[in-house]
Amino acid sequence: MDLGSAERADELLQAQAQVVNHVFNFMNSMALKCAIDLAIPDVIHSHGQPMLLSQLVTALSVQPSKAPCLHRLMRLLVHSGFFSQQQVIHNNEQEEGYSLTSASRFLLKDEPLTGLPLSLLHLNPVLTAPWHFLSGWFRNGDPTPFYTAHGKPYWDYTAQEPDFNDLFNEAMASDSRIIASVLITKCKEQFKGLFSLVDVGAGTGTMTKAIAKAFPHLKCIVFDQPHVVADLQGGGNLEVVGGDMFETIPSANAVILKWILHNWSDEECVKILKKCKEAIPTKDKGGKLMIIDMVMENNKGDDQAVETQLFWDMLMMTVLTGKQRNENEWKKLFVTAGFTHYKISAVLGFRSLIEVYP
Ligand SMILES: C[S@@+](CC[C@H](N)C(=O)[O-])C[C@H]1O[C@@H](n2cnc3c(N)ncnc32)[C@H](O)[C@@H]1O
Repeated sequence: MDLGSAERADELLQAQAQVVNHVFNFMNSMALKCAIDLAIPDVIHSHGQPMLLSQLVTALSVQPSKAPCLHRLMRLLVHSGFFSQQQVIHNNEQEEGYSLTSASRFLLKDEPLTGLPLSLLHLNPVLTAPWHFLSGWFRNGDPTPFYTAHGKPYWDYTAQEPDFNDLFNEAMASDSRIIASVLITKCKEQFKGLFSLVDVGAGTGTMTKAIAKAFPHLKCIVFDQPHVVADLQGGGNLEVVGGDMFETIPSANAVILKWILHNWSDEECVKILKKCKEAIPTKDKGGKLMIIDMVMENNKGDDQAVETQLFWDMLMMTVLTGKQRNENEWKKLFVTAGFTHYKISAVLGFRSLIEVYP
């Protein structure tokens, strides 16, 4: 077939390249999953110096015949910035050795602020399966593609599958360790004047415990579903309460909602926000909400940050009935739930701290 012009031919080839790369994007995720499953970051870290392919093959117990395949896996992961390659002298010969980058260091198992549990959660087949049902879900009556894939809503699934529940809670805890560290370092001012706070949907309380330790005068309540907090113990300035945030929230000066409202629809968020309002005093008596969530469109011009936000929004649509919101959408929720003003501080990377006042 004659395409008529060289420009048209180039356009066709460019379109082909774009489509192929997009279709194959999942290989980046799966190559990373493979590296995590084989514990490649930990093995290179333990080695303590750039690691040769032959050393990696031995340390990972890879079949020797598959050494060239490991090289190909590593080549992709070097390309995507998870490892770097350096020349090393070995047996008087120059060879290539693999080292960690900041991205693979973030995936080390024993780092206190590791991103490994959250990566393991999102690469788990329970969470990748719903994506195969996305198009079907658009035409069926199910609440989420997760429901179409697994036959039940997400929170029922976590309540009924203890192994997945542990994976989810550990993923949330790992993120909470990171956010708590940043919050305690950068946001001391926002805790001034508070005597008590309740962390609503606190998971297993990692962030609440860190705040309780950093601010010993503050009474902190971990509040989540009964099965989530069943094994937790309070003590000192920490209290643990199980319950349903759609029913009653324990009273405190301030309510923290970290990664909660993006899980829910607008109607559900208004219900939660109204329950929060009942739990706190008026503004002149120090009442406020501290929401940790994304504000869409606040990273215009930063393509990577915009893509991160779009990915999280799609995740909320696929797994739960939630969404990411822009400032106007947040404002609408606050006004509908009876709050009078708010302040957004973009201090938490792709998320923000939103203080909301009655
Ligand atoms: C995305 S996780 C966030 C956990 C924690 N705030 C964090 O960021 O690490 C949402 C939490 O909401 C809790 N949750 C869901 N429905 C709830 C309800 N009806 N009442 C209280 N907590 C609930 C879940 O158990 C889960 O721990």
